[in-house]
Amino acid sequence: MTILHGVKTPHDLLYRERFDVWRHEPRTQVLLTSDEPGKTWHSHVGVVTELFDQLQLNPDNTLVMMCGPEIMIRIACNILSHQGLRPDSMYVSLERHMECGIGLCGHCQLGPFFLCKDGPVMRLDRVVPFFGKVGV
Ligand code: FES
Repeated sequence: MTILHGVKTPHDLLYRERFDVWRHEPRTQVLLTSDEPGKTWHSHVGVVTELFDQLQLNPDNTLVMMCGPEIMIRIACNILSHQGLRPDSMYVSLERHMECGIGLCGHCQLGPFFLCKDGPVMRLDRVVPFFGKVGV
């Protein structure tokens, strides 16, 4: 398992102790990055999508679960697609402004989906026609 996590500053890294535990789990890789590292940061500096260069993925044996800003998700899906991952191997959490939360008002609508009741976690191949250009 590989965990990639990006923060704006080291202070924004929540549950820091969990990353330390996961880092010591067998067959687990933790890659962290910070946009604004400060003096105590010893991991990568930059945006989280830069970490994908450090991955050695087997597209036939990889499942991706991703959350974060939608622009980051779009860029990451594009990178992963170019690394051979299929859209049905990627799950994305698509947050929207929600009002009713029961599929009536349409505030969270993405194509035919209401993310309040159909999501917010969606398999990429189901939403890619409505998700914008991700290169898949
Ligand atoms: S929040 Fe109203 S339809 Fe989803």
